Amino acid sequence: MMRIFWGPAAMRGTLAVAMCALIAAAAFSVTGQARQARTIPDGAYTAEQAQRGQQLYKAQCVACHGEKLQGVVGPMLAGEAFLTAWGGRSLAELVDKIQLTMPLQAPNSLTRPQAIDLAAYMLQATSLRAGQDALNEAALKQVMFPAARPAAAAAASSGGVSMAPAANLAQFMRGVTFPNANILFNVQVKDPGAEKPRAPVPFDYLLWGYTQYYGWQAVDQAALALIETTPLFMLPGRRCENGRPVPVNRADYQQFAQDLVNLAKDLYRASQARNQEKFAAMAEQLNDACANCHKVYRDVGTAEGGGLGTDRCRQ
Ligand code: HEC
Ligand code: HEC
Repeated sequence: MMRIFWGPAAMRGTLAVAMCALIAAAAFSVTGQARQARTIPDGAYTAEQAQRGQQLYKAQCVACHGEKLQGVVGPMLAGEAFLTAWGGRSLAELVDKIQLTMPLQAPNSLTRPQAIDLAAYMLQATSLRAGQDALNEAALKQVMFPAARPAAAAAASSGGVSMAPAANLAQFMRGVTFPNANILFNVQVKDPGAEKPRAPVPFDYLLWGYTQYYGWQAVDQAALALIETTPLFMLPGRRCENGRPVPVNRADYQQFAQDLVNLAKDLYRASQARNQEKFAAMAEQLNDACANCHKVYRDVGTAEGGGLGTDRCRQ
């Protein structure tokens, strides 16, 4: 005789079945969508479009993206690595990215047809053949880059929430690491125990924000933020600004990230003592923790524009 247990295990079983059904439904809708959209076919653009795109590219893009579109300061714009990076997104998204944000120093200066010509040139450089029909607005939304690495994307999820990287490493550092580190560095020039900051006139959200969470509480939080976000330096699939994968497999890179986590833990403990002098001395070590990694992986090579960092993220 079969016995039925309505214990937690059975509940889990039921849940698992429900989850499977959900996943199946999701898979179905994805396939449903895929049926309308096409992956990039040969003949998606005309030779004239690609040629116009090439001229524009040589005039406005080559310095940062390279003679062979291989990536210099900015990422590669052709080939396998480019296809992988754009996997699952539409050509419309690529054209938007070009038109709205490139060239970096003059965003929004290209017309829509120019941005489309540039995309056509990139497809040509990726060995897709030209055809009779011009790439146009209607086709852009229909054509998708082939979905890449579904297994890797699934692996980087927690409780069904995707943890796939959205930023390149430089964007992540500028958006997350840099502002938090600056709160810690600021203890060297300003006592967090001093009076409450005053609301700014004229109004400014950033300055006002520091009147809400200020003093040692803000220092605690910045140290905690570094402890929690530094492991994201290791997130699989993230690229550097020049398109190279973040060197997560390099032992020294791993060590530099670990050193920063350890130091941020020490800084958090130091913050609890509410002693400016002691904390300020420790913040000096933070400078080294950032610089040790930057010396090897960031400030290497020179750009044609005279800046540093063309050889960033070498493996
Ligand atoms: C001054 C340097 C510079 C110039 C000039 C420049 N880019 Fe970029 N480009 C970058 C950087 C840096 C990134 C990475 C940051 C980002 O995605 O915004 C990038 C990203 C891109 C991306 C996204 C690639 C990806 O895989 O995410 C595209 C597409 C692109 N550029 C196209 C162009 C085109 C087309 C031109 C010429 C019209 C151009 N860029 C000119 C620096 C530049
Ligand atoms: C484990 C290595 C590592 C550590 C530790 C590290 N960084 Fe970085 N950082 C990099 C690399 C590599 C880049 C270049 C990324 C790219 O080009 O996409 C970078 C880029 C940056 C940038 C952007 C520079 C630009 O291009 O404008 C800033 C800002 C930054 N880091 C701040 C910090 C601060 C502050 C710390 C310490 C609290 C820190 N980083 C710790 C590796 C590291």
